[in-house]
Amino acid sequence: MTKTRVAVNGYGVIGKRVADAVLLQPDMVLVGIADVATDWRIKAAVGRFEVYAATDEADAAMRAAGVPVTGTLDDLLAQVDVVVDTTPKHVAADNLARYQTAEVKAVFQGGESHETTGHSFVAQANYESALGRAMTRVVSCNTTSIVRVLGALQDAGLLARARGVLIRRATDPWESHLGGIMNTMVPEPKIPSHQGPDTNTVRPELDVVTIAAKGAHTQTHNHYWTLQLTRTATREEVIDALRAAPRIAFIRMADGLVALNSTIELMKDLGRPRGDMWEVAVWEDLVTVVGDEAYLTYQVYNEAIVVPETIDAIRALTESAPDAASSMKITDATLGMRQDFLLQAAIPEQGRS
Ligand SMILES: NC(=O)c1ccc[n+]([C@@H]2O[C@H](COP(=O)([O-])OP(=O)(O)OC[C@H]3O[C@@H](n4cnc5c(N)ncnc54)[C@H](O)[C@@H]3O)[C@@H](O)[C@H]2O)c1
Repeated sequence: MTKTRVAVNGYGVIGKRVADAVLLQPDMVLVGIADVATDWRIKAAVGRFEVYAATDEADAAMRAAGVPVTGTLDDLLAQVDVVVDTTPKHVAADNLARYQTAEVKAVFQGGESHETTGHSFVAQANYESALGRAMTRVVSCNTTSIVRVLGALQDAGLLARARGVLIRRATDPWESHLGGIMNTMVPEPKIPSHQGPDTNTVRPELDVVTIAAKGAHTQTHNHYWTLQLTRTATREEVIDALRAAPRIAFIRMADGLVALNSTIELMKDLGRPRGDMWEVAVWEDLVTVVGDEAYLTYQVYNEAIVVPETIDAIRALTESAPDAASSMKITDATLGMRQDFLLQAAIPEQGRS
């Protein structure tokens, strides 16, 4: 098997998780990572990965800080088929020309605009439309969760319209000392918030409106949805549609998982790397259906949810898996994703049907 040669540019919250996930893929090789950091964040990668300097200034600074630099980003690009750009918002778009010159396919992240790549990606929704493309953008953590959950209900013929409220985390844990929100809530200054329109870059036919606010906590987002169904339905029908869809896992208040912190603790107890949760965690016992309306609540682990999508995006661009199901089967099995965190074992090797 010819393995896909991958680079990760930007070894931060998302990049370091993508790098670890690439290592687990039987059909991929991680050639190296690039960054501009000179401190513990990049020093922790030394010895695990070949480290490249993303800019000339960074090259000098990294060497001066004692980081053994293998070469420049251009040296790295010359050796790979695909680069995953996980640099901060808007830095990535400036890298595009560099990737095009090197004739390397590129996976961007949700901080970039849909217009930058002309394609936005969530594996289970539109993998096939990314096959062979030069680049795509894995949509943000919140948008990924919306496409997975609402998409599942729409595919089951149940969803007419969705209205949601999102309580977002204030900042990522590693940079909490740099500032954050303390003892208040900060509404996004626009209704609809951007996640609804962003969902339409992947599922244009979804009637969805979002309102969002940032809370004072640092880990995970929490969504609250009111769903207009296409018809009167039972609670079991809604739950069955969610259970049948990939990358959604149930949690239950009845199990003591009563708040965001308990799910976070559970992920650590399950031995997840960094305590990550790649699935959307839907509170099964809160799913409520009254006539033709449904209500549900779920939790999004923002630092991890886009990692499996990024792995699938690499396979789509390189056409190394022909469809979403075959790519997701490998990704989900290698990461150890689950359909239920407490009731069932990890997804077996052959994946879901
Ligand atoms: N943090 C999240 O929860 C989250 C979730 C989903 C998507 N995203 C998206 O993922 C992308 C990356 O976000 P993040 O949170 O991982 O950022 P981050 O700040 O944690 O990491 C970015 C990394 O890029 C490095 N960097 C900065 N400038 C660079 C340059 N010119 N060249 C190479 N490396 C450079 C930084 O040193 C850092 O290590 C953004 O588009 C973001 O919107 C973030």
